[in-house]
Amino acid sequence: MNPVANPYAPGAGAPPPALTGRDELLETVRIALERVRRGKPAKSVLMVGLRGVGKTVLLDRMRDDAETTGIHTLRIEAPESRSLPAMLAPELRQALIRLSLVEKAKKLAQRGLRALAGFVKGLKLEYSDISVGLDYEPEPGLADNGDLEHDLQALLEAAGEAAQKADTALAIFVDELQYVKEDELAALITALHRTAQRRLPVVLVGAGLPQLRGRMGKAKSYAERLFDFPEIGALSAQAAELAITQPAEEEGVFVDGDALERIVKETKRYPYFLQEWGKHSWNVARASPITREDVERASTAAVAALDESFFRVRFDRLTPAEKTYLRAMSDLGAGPHRSGDIADRLKRAVTSLGPVRSHLIAKGMIWSPSHGDTAFTVPLFDEFMRRIMPGHDWME
Ligand SMILES: Nc1ncnc2c1ncn2[C@@H]1O[C@H](COP(=O)(O)OP(=O)(O)OP(=O)(O)O)[C@@H](O)[C@H]1O
Ligand SMILES: [Mg+2]
Repeated sequence: MNPVANPYAPGAGAPPPALTGRDELLETVRIALERVRRGKPAKSVLMVGLRGVGKTVLLDRMRDDAETTGIHTLRIEAPESRSLPAMLAPELRQALIRLSLVEKAKKLAQRGLRALAGFVKGLKLEYSDISVGLDYEPEPGLADNGDLEHDLQALLEAAGEAAQKADTALAIFVDELQYVKEDELAALITALHRTAQRRLPVVLVGAGLPQLRGRMGKAKSYAERLFDFPEIGALSAQAAELAITQPAEEEGVFVDGDALERIVKETKRYPYFLQEWGKHSWNVARASPITREDVERASTAAVAALDESFFRVRFDRLTPAEKTYLRAMSDLGAGPHRSGDIADRLKRAVTSLGPVRSHLIAKGMIWSPSHGDTAFTVPLFDEFMRRIMPGHDWME
């Protein structure tokens, strides 16, 4: 059928034509933000889930929803290399400038901007990647200690006071939170703990890989009490079907029951895969309805497309030793696997593989669901590894 009308949207962060199965979570976050704005206690929310389950599109939707109700939002994506203060500073500046336009919050927002100036001045030696325009002179003693934990707390308190005065809230949206360094996470947790104690309207909505939960707990032991960690995973069967049928029907196209069943089976209800199968099934179908045969013919193209994008971008960032490790894991199946079993497969000692395993965790390729266990963070990555490194050569 006409590819121009194809509604499906595979791609990192690409908003789906129908965001299905997440209404409850959207509502939970909406309520939390609204409570925070009213000075009522509410936990910050950190969504954890594997690659491609829809964390980024959820964050973006939550942010849009928050903005429409007049909540001030900041949006950060933590890359592996930049520091948290460097990412936070320009976003906070913009939020404070916007707050300074609200007449009754003007004074406090300007104080927030002075806190930001002190923050940058105090930390720019340690975090040389901070670059932000400063609008005011620092106020001596305000967020300018040069100690991240102390200064971030003072800065978020000042920003929270301004938001409170403006009858709004500051919602900080951070994607890929697992990449933030431990001491920076600790500072963020402390600052949020403080604003929560003071009932200031500052809240974090984060997303990250499953290792995030453990990283937060390691950074500050009380983190697990301070935050909610909803798990985002594959969709329910009903939501998965709706993700396929609703966009098609909006274009006047039907998907028959057998075709749907096949898509659900091939994709294991993972959002990214659903978009890819929807797209290719649409393209190979000649007319409505899309049939089981269409889906079967589309599968090769869908797998090839995933191999070239979703899986490939991850694979290309691996060293040869890391590839071999993941290939050995994939030989054992979908996982999780005991580290000892992986080492056995490689005919190596577990301890000698420690560094490779740590690097793979830092890169966000694997995580440890429980002590001594190792699992992929990318769904169906085991199948991909067996496709891309077939045979037994990798063992040598
Ligand atoms: N609830 C949903 N229903 C249908 N499709 C969805 C849903 N959520 C996400 N998608 C689709 O899944 C794909 C992946 O979404 P997204 O990039 O948000 O995932 P992610 O969890 O952030 O992945 P990563 O960990 O790789 O960043 C996109 O193509 C998106 O359109
Ligand atoms: Mg994402």
